[in-house]
Amino acid sequence: MTRVLVLNGPNLGRLGSREPEIYGYLTLSDVATTLSEDASEGVEVELRQTDDEGEMIRWLHEAADTSSPVVLNPAAFTHYSYGLRDAVAVVVGAGVPVIEIHLSNPHSREEFRHTSVLSGVATGVIAGLGIDSYRLGLVAALRRA
Ligand code: DQA
Repeated sequence: MTRVLVLNGPNLGRLGSREPEIYGYLTLSDVATTLSEDASEGVEVELRQTDDEGEMIRWLHEAADTSSPVVLNPAAFTHYSYGLRDAVAVVVGAGVPVIEIHLSNPHSREEFRHTSVLSGVATGVIAGLGIDSYRLGLVAALRRA
């Protein structure tokens, strides 16, 4: 059994009602259902969300220790968290893929979103495709696991 961790950062627990013109109306629970339906036999998708940077970092350490491929929507942490960057580097350094994903295309939005401090250490980046960013992230993470 391969377990994929789908980790979500701050404010993503509000999906469905948060800025729907940008993020749409799907909730994180809808995302979890779709990914579980996509997952082939032998793959378990575990979706988590936190507004806490320390908790996200601990989850990434767990991914490194358990060799669990990661689909990561770092949300606003993307743009400033060096702690998260270093944690992603730990996971990728352990030979475990981390696919950074975004629902929206940060490059077409405010200037501060144009910078990701994580992309340089992530295995790959997918953005701007709504829920398909998660679905493609899952495929990519498994292909590199
Ligand atoms: C996001 C983009 C980020 O800039 C933003 O802070 C989010 C969500 C996305 O999925 O499009 O919270 O990561």
